Amino acid sequence: MAPHTPVPPAVLNLALAVVASSNAPVLLLDGDLTVIAASTSFCRTFQIEREQVADSSLPALGGGEWDVPQLTALLKATASGFAEVENYEMELVRPGRGNRCLVLNAKKLDYADDNNIRLILAVSDVTDARIAEKLKDDLVKEKAILLQELHHRVANSLQIIASVLMQSARKVQSEETRNHLFDAHQRVMSVASLQQQLAASRAGDVQLRPYFTTLCESIAASMIRDHDQLSLEVRADESITTADTSVSLGLIVTELVINALKHAFPDNRRGKIAVDYKTNTSNWTLSVTDDGVGMPTQPGPVPAGLGTSIVQALTKQLGASISVAGANPGTKVSIVHAHVPVLVSQSAALGPAV
Ligand SMILES: Nc1ncnc2c1ncn2[C@@H]1O[C@H](COP(=O)(O)OP(=O)(O)OP(=O)(O)O)[C@@H](O)[C@H]1O
Ligand SMILES: [Mg+2]
Repeated sequence: MAPHTPVPPAVLNLALAVVASSNAPVLLLDGDLTVIAASTSFCRTFQIEREQVADSSLPALGGGEWDVPQLTALLKATASGFAEVENYEMELVRPGRGNRCLVLNAKKLDYADDNNIRLILAVSDVTDARIAEKLKDDLVKEKAILLQELHHRVANSLQIIASVLMQSARKVQSEETRNHLFDAHQRVMSVASLQQQLAASRAGDVQLRPYFTTLCESIAASMIRDHDQLSLEVRADESITTADTSVSLGLIVTELVINALKHAFPDNRRGKIAVDYKTNTSNWTLSVTDDGVGMPTQPGPVPAGLGTSIVQALTKQLGASISVAGANPGTKVSIVHAHVPVLVSQSAALGPAV
């Protein structure tokens, strides 16, 4: 159509009919922002009488709440073809009736007739959606705070249990009982240390290297008397894992490192313990190696203690398997998570592989 070809009345009426019958809040405006038609939904949503709408100018609608200079300027620019209103957000201020949060879209109908400019203005009331979004955000934040609080409380309670165990260990006469109480104290301290680190990591995921390093520092501080005689090193890659998995891995490291400290270096023997963690896509290997005396070579199976049961149960939970090998000298215990079944060299303690 040429720029001044009059729009046939049928076309104008069609636009009017489409707007009037729309289920969404929509207005049909002319170039002066006079309302030509409004959908029933618009009148209902914004509590404006139908009779009041026709031939009223947009800024004069209702109690004047649509008289927003920036919106008027944008719509006029749209009518002149210089702009388009796309997802324009505004607050409809309605004294006494509560403000509404609106998203507006306006398009000029392409009639090429300057005497019959038509704009379609679609209005979405997103007030309830925004309130729901904010409520959801608030709930998520509150949940995160509660979770942090819970982590801190659990870590504190564990510290208290650990100190009670330590006090009891100091009081008992029997050396065997004292050692059991020291072991229990060390286990609870490790769990407390893991818990503390989880509380510090705000996101759900845990970086394993700093996590294992802090854990081993806490074990070394309480169990290694002479750091020239025994060293404990962590050599983990940049792996990140979930909080659940990291707790299981941390408890396994605790048991294996304590085993090396307790059994591999009798008579103040010098040595090294290393904790390694490597990932390759979904496969990973956690190993604790020492250069101590090696597993007992007595005939028959090595009597398994509580430590073996803990490591076996956690390994099974992680869907991994245990392998125990001589490290010439010493022992290497590996926890392997592999899609391809691994060959496992079994030993009485820490085995059979699960
Ligand atoms: N790194 C190691 N070097 C030498 N011997 C080890 C090593 N790890 C385990 N063992 C042997 O395996 C046995 C079983 O270990 P396990 O952790 O099951 O029990 P424990 O350490 O004796 O007691 P618990 O773990 O219940 O305190 C140990 O008693 C020890 O003889
Ligand atoms: Mg043990």
